[in-house]
Amino acid sequence: MGATNIQGIARLVFILCVIFLSIYFILPPSAEESLHIEKTLKEKIIKQSLQKEQQAQQAREALDKKLDKLLVDKRTRADKDAIETTKRVIKEKLKFDFTNIIPGSNSFGKINKNGNNNNAKRLKEFKRKLECMTSKGRWEIDHTPRPIIKHKQDPLYGKCDRRLENQNNNNNNNYYNYSMEHEWQFARESVKYVWRTPEECSIPKFNIEKACSIIYGKKFLLVGDILLFQLHELLLDYFKDGPVQCYGEIACKEHILCKIENNEEGNVKQKQPPKMKFIRNDLISNRKNVPIDDIKFVDVKNLELPWISYAYKFNVLIFNKGHHWQDDETFRNSLIEVMNSIRTKFPNTLIIYKSTTLGHLNCESAKKPLSSPPNATELEALPYHWGEIHRQNLIAKEITEAVGGVFIDLENVMITRIDDHIGGQDCLRWCIPGPADIWLDFLFYVMNELK
Ligand SMILES: *[C@@H]1O[C@H](CO)[C@@H](O)[C@H](O)[C@H]1NC(C)=O
Ligand SMILES: *[C@@H]1O[C@H](CO)[C@@H](O)[C@H](O)[C@H]1NC(C)=O
Repeated sequence: MGATNIQGIARLVFILCVIFLSIYFILPPSAEESLHIEKTLKEKIIKQSLQKEQQAQQAREALDKKLDKLLVDKRTRADKDAIETTKRVIKEKLKFDFTNIIPGSNSFGKINKNGNNNNAKRLKEFKRKLECMTSKGRWEIDHTPRPIIKHKQDPLYGKCDRRLENQNNNNNNNYYNYSMEHEWQFARESVKYVWRTPEECSIPKFNIEKACSIIYGKKFLLVGDILLFQLHELLLDYFKDGPVQCYGEIACKEHILCKIENNEEGNVKQKQPPKMKFIRNDLISNRKNVPIDDIKFVDVKNLELPWISYAYKFNVLIFNKGHHWQDDETFRNSLIEVMNSIRTKFPNTLIIYKSTTLGHLNCESAKKPLSSPPNATELEALPYHWGEIHRQNLIAKEITEAVGGVFIDLENVMITRIDDHIGGQDCLRWCIPGPADIWLDFLFYVMNELK
């Protein structure tokens, strides 16, 4: 009796449960509940799609990295091949051995009587230090006031200061007479960066008197394209008090750099004051003559003014190849031929090769240096063969050193300096004062070490 009763109650409870649940599920949920369900569903979908996007992004980045690594490998291989080929061609074509001497240098010019061991060791150390200076530094802002080069020559290089003056509405042409601190205060940001190198290869700073004594008796012939004209302008700005007469890059005359008689050492007085001349030859070719039309039309693509016939008047030749593209083989062979011919004709002339610097895309909008050099992917994508400049600089280094010359590598120093280019169409050259002012420090350092 009791058991049936209990069974009856259980059945009833079960039936009630079924009915209740059916009602619960059949009836639509309340508005509030449905909103909640929709929200969680949406959140879930969004979360999932975000996750997917994140995964895709990670996959893309991994792929980019992989591609970049492949490009790095490809570029490294191409660099190595270029160096090896150059070494081989040098061996075939050049009959010099300048492993331990630098002609035109008092420090490393002659092998001393005790054999050349000492020379070899010092020369190796000089090259190691120079390489450390150019490859191990980085640009840092430094607000300590210091003297700034004043630009007084070709107005083109003064463009950034004119832009700044227009911005600040202070049309002050008389700024030559301000104190160093005042000038510093109003100087552009790009001037305030220093190329900080490790202590073992810190770059010495020279003042004008010391710089003059370093280059006393030197006669510089600068042969290259408009990128080297920047060095010409820097030297004039550094040593001259005002503008000098110069009819553009094509027909600029010879300049005397230091008028002051050097009193530091008696024997220096007998030497000639330092001189400099720029000759534009875009390809560093040894063409003997130029069709008269080339001179009339300044915008000719590759201008090759003759220079070898004047070279005997100079004791330091500074070369630079700008952005006038030739394939590796043409570039290599023509440079070997030219270097061979000048080294044969002028066995005691100092040869310096300044590496080509890269251009920067969209330089106008840049306010400060790039935080890191372009990666391989970016280098490969650069227009105008800029991505191949590094390899050709390596080729030039081999050839320069094979004829006992000094290679100054400015490519790495300048590669992040996207700021304060002349701008407009020109993202190759820099305003003066500006990022390229450091070129003088390297030149003076090298000249001081070579003596
Ligand atoms: C290379 O640089 C570009 C631009 O800064 C960047 O978008 C890309 O992710 C870099 N690639 C690698 C593999 O670092
Ligand atoms: C520069 O300043 C000095 C002293 O303040 C003054 O005698 C001289 O005339 C100034 N020169 C110019 C070009 O303004």
